[in-house]
Amino acid sequence: RGARLAANVSTPAKKSAASAADIDWDALGFGLTETAFMCRATCDVDGEWTTGQLEPYGDLSLSPAAAVLNYGQGIFEGMKAYRTVDGAVAVFRPDQNAKRFAEGAGRMSMPPVPEDVFVDAVKKTISANRDFIPPEGKGSLYLRPLLIGTGPILGLGPAPSYDFLVYCSPVASYFKGGQLTPIDLVVEETYHRAAPGGTGSTKCVGNYSPVLKVQLKAKKEGFSDVIYLDAVNNKYIEEVSSCNFFAVKGKTIATPALGGSILPGITRKSVIELAKKKGYVVEERNVSVEEVLDADECFCTGTAVVVVPVGSVTHRGEKKVFKGGKVGEVGQSLYDELTGIQAGKLEAPEGWLVN
Ligand code: COI
Repeated sequence: RGARLAANVSTPAKKSAASAADIDWDALGFGLTETAFMCRATCDVDGEWTTGQLEPYGDLSLSPAAAVLNYGQGIFEGMKAYRTVDGAVAVFRPDQNAKRFAEGAGRMSMPPVPEDVFVDAVKKTISANRDFIPPEGKGSLYLRPLLIGTGPILGLGPAPSYDFLVYCSPVASYFKGGQLTPIDLVVEETYHRAAPGGTGSTKCVGNYSPVLKVQLKAKKEGFSDVIYLDAVNNKYIEEVSSCNFFAVKGKTIATPALGGSILPGITRKSVIELAKKKGYVVEERNVSVEEVLDADECFCTGTAVVVVPVGSVTHRGEKKVFKGGKVGEVGQSLYDELTGIQAGKLEAPEGWLVN
């Protein structure tokens, strides 16, 4: 059986590392290791954002009537910074996160954070926590930009004020067993992650807790996670709780099209570009469960998971094993290419690695 979610995904926050010197870089998973600083910008009724200011990492003080606590008015991003082979530090495609964040803000009736304020806060957070970036090849610094309605509101409506925060944590493999350990997925036919016209394509905080019930049940049954189907036909693949899905057949790679209910992953977009350069035909369209069960190989992509091979997919009790439960050639080569670029070992397309 392949890997399950790393045990430390759901454990409570560790105490703040006294200093980065206390971190065992070989023992990193995807748990929270508190760092020294976070960055904060604010926006009130005038709609103008301040520039982000660094402050010590710590708890927030919020009104019980804060819009994010009562009505879920909040979005987040996931992004990573790396130490590269030349000894520099680089962040991956921050402009893409900034754009997705601004679109998400619009969907959730929040004032969008301008791209320069977003990127500046991300860079300040990385630089202030530089010691917490794992050595090259041992992981990355995961950054969590958050935009939350902090102002109090009782009747349903947008908050009167907002905080934009960036905090971070050093991380390594999301799934237990290491970066390229295949995961076992089960097709979920009862619960849906998103519906047409909903918020599936937004990284809003409310998209994530509803998947926990389904994910925990799947984990109890020995699976790593679930594959969600579309809410209209219950037939086409949408995504996994935390990542996008790809199925390979010959030289064709199919992935669900972005129709509003699927998260527009930046790793998804990057892998599509890399796969096309490698000569694959990439089709963004409906991908049925039957097509997945007939695929040569499947893999998932995401900022947290990177590129992770799918060892098996179970549908109505029938288990289809891919590549004998081992990593397939396509997933492996896209993983190598992407992580090679992120480590500065391979030439990065314009704008992908930003210092
Ligand atoms: C990411 O991949 O960055 C995400 O935000 C997914 C999250 C569930 C870990």
